[in-house]
Amino acid sequence: VQDTFLCVKPDGVERGLIGEMIVRFERKGLQLVGMKMITPSRSLIETHYAEHRGKGFFNGICEYMSGHPVVAMVWRGVDAISVCRTVIGATNPTKAAMGTIRGDFGMQTGRNLIHGSDGPESAAREIGLWFRPEEITPASVVPCINKWLYE
Ligand code: GTP
Ligand code: MG
Repeated sequence: VQDTFLCVKPDGVERGLIGEMIVRFERKGLQLVGMKMITPSRSLIETHYAEHRGKGFFNGICEYMSGHPVVAMVWRGVDAISVCRTVIGATNPTKAAMGTIRGDFGMQTGRNLIHGSDGPESAAREIGLWFRPEEITPASVVPCINKWLYE
């Protein structure tokens, strides 16, 4: 079982798509174990996207992501990191498959609606950056439906 960090970006919030996105992860079978709406500072976003520092789009993504409300979430499940990336779709919404969040709702890479951690190290780093431990449901809280999701 893995935990992954997702974040509904400002365009997703402003366009009224928070519920539309959450329902897709719920229906898939993932467990929501942390969630809050916050308006991130520029320094939080710079730390979050530190791997992209120095790239041409870095300033743009910091302007886009900071100073506007976002919905930070932690989702749990078997292979949750890759499952969530599949639900989200490719980085560029013009290339993302229909049926994915970015494929269904996006028009441009710089407005791609939602973030998802890309591996176990980034998931752990991002969850620690955005959440305090007591804001995450303990692993001992196992949903009853799990016996119908996993053999
Ligand atoms: P995240 O889940 O947000 O991390 O997206 P990703 O993992 O699919 O892509 P990546 O980590 O490579 O890029 C992070 C974010 O930077 C993307 O989601 C975009 O919002 C933005 N970004 C990446 N490449 C470009 C680009 O070429 N142009 C613009 N304008 N934004 C970009
Ligand atoms: Mg990424």
